[in-house]
Amino acid sequence: MKRMLLFILPVLLLVSIAFTVFGVFQVRYEEEKQLDEIKRKAIAVNESLEFSARHILENNDLKNANRLVESFQRRERLQGCVIYDKEGRVLAVTERISDWGRTAKPYTSEILVSKTPRGAMEKFGDYTAYSYVLPIKDANGELLGMVEVVYDTSHVLTTIAAIWKRVSITLISLLVVIVLIMLLIQRQIFVLPVIRLTEWFQHFQRGETDVSHSIKEEDELGKLASEVEQVALSLRIARKAVSEKASERLEKEELWTEAKLRDIIHVRLGENALYMVSNREPYMHVINEITGKPECIRPAGGVVTAIDPIMRACGGMWIAHGAGNADRQFVNSKDKLGVPPEDDKYILKRVWLSKDEEEGYYYGFSNEGLWPLCHITHTRPVFREPDWQAYKKVNQKFADSVLLELPVKNPFVFIHDYHFTLLAGMIKEKRPDTTIALFWHIPWPNPEVFATCPYQEQILEGMLACDLIGFHVQMHCNNFLDTANRLLESRVDTEAFKVIRFGKETLIKAFPISVDDCTGHDSSMEDLQQINNLCKEYNLENTIIAMGVDRIDYTKGLSERILAVDRFFEKYPQYKKKFVFIQLAAPSRTHIKRYHDFAGEVDELVEKANWKHSEGDWKPIIYLKRHFSQEEIRPYYLMADICIVSSLHDGMNLVAKEYVAAKKDSNGVLILSRFTGAAKELTQAIHINPYSIEEFADSIKSAIEMPAEEKRSRMAHMRNVIRINNVYRWAGNIITELTSLKKI
Ligand code: F6P
Repeated sequence: MKRMLLFILPVLLLVSIAFTVFGVFQVRYEEEKQLDEIKRKAIAVNESLEFSARHILENNDLKNANRLVESFQRRERLQGCVIYDKEGRVLAVTERISDWGRTAKPYTSEILVSKTPRGAMEKFGDYTAYSYVLPIKDANGELLGMVEVVYDTSHVLTTIAAIWKRVSITLISLLVVIVLIMLLIQRQIFVLPVIRLTEWFQHFQRGETDVSHSIKEEDELGKLASEVEQVALSLRIARKAVSEKASERLEKEELWTEAKLRDIIHVRLGENALYMVSNREPYMHVINEITGKPECIRPAGGVVTAIDPIMRACGGMWIAHGAGNADRQFVNSKDKLGVPPEDDKYILKRVWLSKDEEEGYYYGFSNEGLWPLCHITHTRPVFREPDWQAYKKVNQKFADSVLLELPVKNPFVFIHDYHFTLLAGMIKEKRPDTTIALFWHIPWPNPEVFATCPYQEQILEGMLACDLIGFHVQMHCNNFLDTANRLLESRVDTEAFKVIRFGKETLIKAFPISVDDCTGHDSSMEDLQQINNLCKEYNLENTIIAMGVDRIDYTKGLSERILAVDRFFEKYPQYKKKFVFIQLAAPSRTHIKRYHDFAGEVDELVEKANWKHSEGDWKPIIYLKRHFSQEEIRPYYLMADICIVSSLHDGMNLVAKEYVAAKKDSNGVLILSRFTGAAKELTQAIHINPYSIEEFADSIKSAIEMPAEEKRSRMAHMRNVIRINNVYRWAGNIITELTSLKKI
């Protein structure tokens, strides 16, 4: 449009200037013509009066003088006539210009002296008139007096105004016609062919057409079209080759790897991209409060940890809330950017929310309503009607954003978490051909608990628009099936694990999420350097290190963990100065009072335990409260002898798996809450009930004192579990299941 304006504006300007110049000339010509006519008429009238005026002035005949001037009263355009005596005094004046007659005018005395006629435009009050004065002389040439004829010139102005109006209307119409014609020409010769070419490119790429494009011209556009055709063809061939090789490899490989996932996506989805949707974005741009400059961080949380490696492997698009305060600086005009930054493996599309939307949808309904509803932590869920309205609105906003991206054929959408229970329904309303999976990253409660949600029906209905709903563990699937069975008019097929409602089937299945792999690199020089630095910074030489990494969330069992460390030192004081617990704690959802208060409670507990047990410069708990990047967490994993995961309730908990994955030397012990999904798979961890502080404290002692061989064998077992059940297997299984629900 900008370019179009640059082209059209000069044309419009030239036409406007030409028309204005033409208008000025036309007006001048008309004005002169009209005034000339008035002048000629005035002279003629005056000359016709000369004889009668002379007679009147010679005889000082006032009666005839008045009769003469009044005869002008009936004439059109002519305002009137004034008869002056030889001294310049008014003898008679037409009544309608009596004011004119009475006003002193400098030119009358000039004419008495010069005795020559005079015609000119004169201003009188609000109007302008034409005055023609004729001196009247006797036979000897002696001045007897003067006759002045006054003409109205207002019609000249009216005529000029009418001319300008005509010129303006013609000019505007002409400009509109020029703009329309130019837009039409531009559309015909440029926009339409480009639209056709773009559409063809999209269809050809997706394999929806084999015919070549319709642009046959040999001009510049034709050359561009042929270049585009080459690119599209190469892309298609490359994709086909990848797909064939992928099928071959799939038959050979057993262990799930990044490459195998990529292959299965090619084989299963073909030309289709995968569309991920989550609330939390994988890369967030925020202003660093110290430097004042924007930086890119990877937010803490299971969704980002698990999905980012999949997207890196397979490409596609991830649509998420742009929550970073510098996010808008890094997107293109379509709110998209390539991520990871500087690597561009996939596209991140950011959806913007207003403060009110974020407040109601994210903080309110999602995290004060659904989050406590689904976690057994005895925190009461709060359901507010305005939050629900905001939640619906934001789900619709995301649906609109997703719909804009979907390809014409067989789209696949993969939704994450409790923020989007209504999204599938909204997408299917417009695109029923979309195949949709929803993965629920948190626990699903039993029907009695879920029945306390005032919006239970709408939520279940929205979720059942999906073709597949995944949970981490079978128990959550069972809870969901029970919930659908009891709270909604639906049929549950317990053999096939499907919910059938009004003929629509939704498969409910457990897919335990995981981390990318255990086969990563050995500790590098850089790792060792970092560990060294940390040991120096926190005085950790010859110290047994236990660690935890969590968002500061009341479900994570942080208070219980601090109480257990406290109790451990009470019970086993011989470990003072020999053992340290390091907690990396990422502030989370601090805008919610419960989270704000909870962070304060943990601070207080840490402070109390440190005060109670510290000796000299040694203190039992190092509490580091800030966001840590994956790279920053790694050295802590590597140096920690023990990792503690003590969630009161957790869908899976990927920290447990990340710790195991990082322990390439198999030297470490995992203390794991039995209320996490991870406990079902990591059976060789020391399982604890975090509510039992005694048991918890003792488990720390057991972990420290576990024989080296047992530690290694337990860790090796857990590493093997994760090696097999890695995140690529998780994604591969979901995609295989999803695509088999719908034949492409
Ligand atoms: O796993 C549940 C979850 O809400 C994820 O969606 C998210 O990655 C994580 O917890 C962190 O929460 P938030 O996105 O609210 O910071």
